[in-house]
Amino acid sequence: MSRGEQDQISESQIASHWREEEFISPGAGFIAQANMADAKVLERFAIENYPEYFREYADLLTWDQYWHTTLDTSNPPFWKWFAGGKLNASYNCVDRHVAAHKNKAAFIWVAEPEDEQDRVITYQDLYVRVNEFAALLRDFCGVKAGDRVTLHMPMVPELPVAMLACARLGVVHSQVFGGFSGAACGDRIVDSGSRVLITMDAYYRNGDLLDHKVKADEAVAQAEKGGASVDKVLVWRRYPGRDSSPTPMIDGRDFYVDDLLKDYRGQRVEPVSMPAEAPLFLMYTSGTTARPKGCQHSTGGYLAYVAGTARYYQDIHPEDVYWCFADIGWITGHSYIVYGPLANAATGVLYEGVPTYPDPGRPWRIAERLDVNIFHTAPTTIRMLRKAGPDEPQKHNYRFKHMTTVGEPIEPEVWRWYYEVVGKRDAAIVDTWWQTETGGFIGTTLPALQPMKPGSCGPGALGIFPIILDEDGNEVEPGSGRAGNICISNPWPGFMQTVWGDPDRFVATYFEKYCKDPNSKDWRDWPYVTGDGAMQAADGYFRIVGRVDDVINVAGHRLGTKELESAALTVEAVGEAAAVPAYDELRGRVPEMYVSLKPGYEASSEVEDQVKSAIRQMIGPIARPAHVWVTTDLPKTRSGKIMRRVIASISNFMDVGDTTTLANPEVVDEVRIAVQSAKVKAGDVPKDLPESARAEIRQFGGDV
Ligand code: PRX
Repeated sequence: MSRGEQDQISESQIASHWREEEFISPGAGFIAQANMADAKVLERFAIENYPEYFREYADLLTWDQYWHTTLDTSNPPFWKWFAGGKLNASYNCVDRHVAAHKNKAAFIWVAEPEDEQDRVITYQDLYVRVNEFAALLRDFCGVKAGDRVTLHMPMVPELPVAMLACARLGVVHSQVFGGFSGAACGDRIVDSGSRVLITMDAYYRNGDLLDHKVKADEAVAQAEKGGASVDKVLVWRRYPGRDSSPTPMIDGRDFYVDDLLKDYRGQRVEPVSMPAEAPLFLMYTSGTTARPKGCQHSTGGYLAYVAGTARYYQDIHPEDVYWCFADIGWITGHSYIVYGPLANAATGVLYEGVPTYPDPGRPWRIAERLDVNIFHTAPTTIRMLRKAGPDEPQKHNYRFKHMTTVGEPIEPEVWRWYYEVVGKRDAAIVDTWWQTETGGFIGTTLPALQPMKPGSCGPGALGIFPIILDEDGNEVEPGSGRAGNICISNPWPGFMQTVWGDPDRFVATYFEKYCKDPNSKDWRDWPYVTGDGAMQAADGYFRIVGRVDDVINVAGHRLGTKELESAALTVEAVGEAAAVPAYDELRGRVPEMYVSLKPGYEASSEVEDQVKSAIRQMIGPIARPAHVWVTTDLPKTRSGKIMRRVIASISNFMDVGDTTTLANPEVVDEVRIAVQSAKVKAGDVPKDLPESARAEIRQFGGDV
């Protein structure tokens, strides 16, 4: 690729002109009760004390054997935390709380149908259920420490029970988001080498009892195509003893868990003492290739990190009622619904359904009824609730002391509604920036010690030192008004250990760009490349612009352009495909597909529908594109790379920039006129494109 072409696509150093927001401090009431309000913590976590300061988090856990080395860097970048230590995650989240908190709710589950009773799972209940299910997994499925088990479950208490039962045995769980298709689940079964799939017959979503069992059949079929065979499918029932799915059970393969559990009543399973660096779970996420990466998270480092950050940043005390609105099928749910909160003996609310069902007052009714005082959600949900019922929160008598926003950049005006209306100008807000890879928060304010700034996540989390680098690896100075590639300069315990089964991909994806010496044993030579673009203000706070790679963040869910494109390419007529983000007022971004057809095929609405349905089938409904544009050709560099940034600019009515170095610049106008006139006709023209969206689109498809 020529230098000219490279300049075209590596444009992460955009200059942005944000309006700087004022700082807002939390009230004295919050500070007085906060878990961490002692400014000395900032000194303790200064880099001079690295890496020992992370003991403070590890010491929140109960170890069977204390570690001898806090950080082993002998094989970069495969860091080992708390080496020599042994522990069990299920023991730390359940058993050790039973003595003091036997009758305390670990989870309060709220069904989507409002007339259905809550289910309260005390720590004692959780202990019994985790043990019985672990006995079933061990004796009926024959799984043992190190084996992988795939879960494809909705938001029900049986999901954390299954995760913790795996953890009890040292089995590595791989939960696939319940909304993903059966095919997507099948691909993850193949990659992880699971022989057991745990699923559920049905669950409620937006008023409908959805058939989920059917996805298990699709998953097993897809896994078979990939050469993997699933021996057993364990099916929890939404209503034990009663079938809620019309999909038949396959004899000898599918089993109802409520039937099987009868044989394991009262059984106890000794928690298996696992090395700190044993994998706890895999979480697949999208990246720059079609194949999702299995991020492998450790037992000791991960659990220590989420326990510590849940305590200091979420400010969870055992007497709080904490509600994280995320799905457990994403990393947020693993870290901040299951492992972090349970390690702190929290009471967590689990909600089955959609936030606005049956009306936008629902979350506030739940909060009032259960006296929730810590609330955690994503900008997409906040935007949705704000649009559907801007005055609803005032009508309800709840009081949040603390609120979180996570997963996407939040626009300052949306932040202000969250603060003023939802938080009633009382709750402290943390805007937590992190990723599937990072295990826990990496950029956020420490709520009692660092003031909030709307639209900025804050400084690096305790002990984490982010740095913004330009394309040549030079540091972009804070306050320069320039964005660059945000990296983390030091390892930390929550960070993933590797890409499951593909260590080379781990190194290439996350370290190659800035590692000057691949033989170096010094962690300072291995900055972690997050894949995000960001700017740092003079005060040290970071503002995340969005992805600089080929990832589209739809409502806080990561979708790889390559995944969308390979799904589109399964349609017979499609010769080439490109996916780009379009700004969406509610969901942040939605994908739009551009496809060109093979010779001999004509553009038609049928092709568009086929592309949409292929994406739904292969990935799931969240990936459904807003538009499929069928064009004769797509703008390309001379080396044949489709210029996603150019078509993304077209979709968003932005200036396409310099196109003179393209191989086929004449296509740009042709596509622009066709797409934009159709969008104008459909009334689909973004009104006020926020600066953050502009900045992301300008850099989209960069070569990080
Ligand atoms: O682009 C960043 C965005 O979400 C990406 C990570 O997505 P995922 O791995 O699915 O994890 C989401 C939940 C942790 C990041 O690369 N992102 C996450 N949090 C924020 C954010 N963007 C801006 N502000 C945030 N607070």
